Amino acid sequence: MPSSFDTVCEALGAIIDPYTHQKFDKKSITLQGDSAAAELVLSLGYPISDRLFESHHVLIKGTLSEHGWEAKRIDRVNRIRSHSVQEGVKALPGVKNVIAVGSGKGGVGKSTVAVNLAFALARMGARVGVLDADIYGPNVPAMLGVEPQEVSVAQEKDVFEPVLAQGCQSMSMAYLVPDGRPMVWRGPMVSGALLQLAQQTRWDQCDYLIVDLPPGTGDIQLTLSKKIPVTTSVIVTTPQVVALLDVQKGIGMFEKVGIPIAGLVENMSGFTCPHCHEQSDIFSKSGGAALAEALSIPLLGSLPLSPKLREAGDLGVPLADQDEISSIFEEMAVSVTSGISTQDIDYSRHFSNVQVTD
Ligand SMILES: Nc1ncnc2c1ncn2[C@@H]1O[C@H](COP(=O)(O)OP(=O)(O)OP(=O)(O)O)[C@@H](O)[C@H]1O
Ligand SMILES: [Mg+2]
Repeated sequence: MPSSFDTVCEALGAIIDPYTHQKFDKKSITLQGDSAAAELVLSLGYPISDRLFESHHVLIKGTLSEHGWEAKRIDRVNRIRSHSVQEGVKALPGVKNVIAVGSGKGGVGKSTVAVNLAFALARMGARVGVLDADIYGPNVPAMLGVEPQEVSVAQEKDVFEPVLAQGCQSMSMAYLVPDGRPMVWRGPMVSGALLQLAQQTRWDQCDYLIVDLPPGTGDIQLTLSKKIPVTTSVIVTTPQVVALLDVQKGIGMFEKVGIPIAGLVENMSGFTCPHCHEQSDIFSKSGGAALAEALSIPLLGSLPLSPKLREAGDLGVPLADQDEISSIFEEMAVSVTSGISTQDIDYSRHFSNVQVTD
């Protein structure tokens, strides 16, 4: 005999989410119908693709069938909320969560990872923005396929409209100083410029704002950690020892200011010859995995050296949906955002306008 409705709800609530590693909250499950034709909708605090939702699907179907229930429909809705950031930093208007992508080292693929994470999240139905924090050498526009000379950023008083490209909102210094003039600014001016880009853009209900950081641990990183509300950070490295040492510095900086680290991305971690399909480890191998283990932070994924990925970056287009590397980015994006969903909810913005007077 099939179990009762309440028993089934109880059992579904005890399933461990494969990404958050926490129990499904009973309140996140809507169950309708009866044991012969159950319809279930799961509300998730992070976006997910059909392919990755398959693992939830299997778990739910299994639990229903253990209780003699038959699933007619298993679906999900996203309910992305705002989560905790460093203490004492005010929320950015129009942005629920900020994900900083950085590394102590230049040229390791930060912008590539930042932009492709944004593409993956947008493809999974999240509202995404990309903030180019590289004030001296902005290259987010190119990777989004935007020719800065061809856009004119709408401005109302002191507020800029973000530029829309490939399903993402974006803001970059390159849109505001589009003639490619090299910017020779001193530290405080650079910090001021970053704050302006972050705070004076009319971000339109972004679930996630991805911040592409320049290399190093200088003024920009300091401003970000002190003045911009960062929900979590992603560290990019290549598997060489030198890169790893620089990365350790970057990790230390985020830790010092209380910004969580979602994990490490190991980039350029091997090359598969397109002709003979032989695998070569050009920049040595598994350094990222070893570092992640040594620092007790998760390895979010390893990306091979891929001519297709470089080409897509140069052309400013996303990789095809079914591409193997797109799937790696999709998994990384779900790891990062499911991790965010387990951080405390940030209720402060609900009270931001309350003033206490005598
Ligand atoms: N896995 C990869 N396979 C092939 N090319 C890659 C890969 N990752 C990045 N690249 C290429 O390497 C170059 C540097 O990447 P990217 O600009 O993302 O690095 P960065 O860390 O942001 O650099 P910077 O420190 O200058 O900001 C780009 O041409 C990019 O297309
Ligand atoms: Mg970059």
